[in-house]
Amino acid sequence: MLLELLKKTRSYRNFDPKRSVKKEELLEIINLCRFTPSTVNRQPVRFAYAFEKEVCQSIFPHLAWAGMIKENKPPYPGNEPTAYILLCYDTNVSQKSPEVDMGIYAQALVLGAMEKGLGACILGSINKPALSEIFNLPENLVPRLIVALGGPNEEVILTDAVGGDTRYYRDSQGKHYVPKLPLEELVVEM
Ligand SMILES: Cc1cc2nc3c(=O)[nH]c(=O)nc-3n(C[C@H](O)[C@H](O)[C@H](O)COP(=O)(O)O)c2cc1C
Repeated sequence: MLLELLKKTRSYRNFDPKRSVKKEELLEIINLCRFTPSTVNRQPVRFAYAFEKEVCQSIFPHLAWAGMIKENKPPYPGNEPTAYILLCYDTNVSQKSPEVDMGIYAQALVLGAMEKGLGACILGSINKPALSEIFNLPENLVPRLIVALGGPNEEVILTDAVGGDTRYYRDSQGKHYVPKLPLEELVVEM
């Protein structure tokens, strides 16, 4: 059921080092994006991927994780992602990042990953020049988001946001809590 899959599809930031991700799995996940909507059907996003240990290690320092967590920031040592999908926009199609399309693609990726038992985290705080170099991107492809992937290795708990406070937090055992707004606060009645 979609509701159950959406509830399970949290942002995971600690990954099981024993769960490697295969190239075929990444391509199957990326393939989902062929069937999403896109503004004027332009399909301006291109995807690069990495699953090799050394490449994943070189990507990791160029990502900023969990800005709201000040101490014991995830991923904890040894729990780094075991694969990545980089979303780039093609300046030959559009000079500006197609933000709405990007979001739709990213959501398709994380849902597809979860369906395969893979946890994911979308990251927008990334060092774009460094990633362009690592992925050897041609000039027309500009990184915008990266999706970190791997076997989920932490507990992420949904809670109800109280008084509009949506700040996520971790307890002393490293359990991660994500407050979501109630339906009444999302819906605007006429
Ligand atoms: C466009 C976008 C950019 C994000 N960038 C980052 C990021 O740079 N670093 C990070 O740790 N999480 C990032 N996140 C994950 C959010 O922090 C996360 O979605 C939010 O805390 C809610 O948690 P949930 O995904 O489990 O519902 C990003 C999410 C989105 C949609």
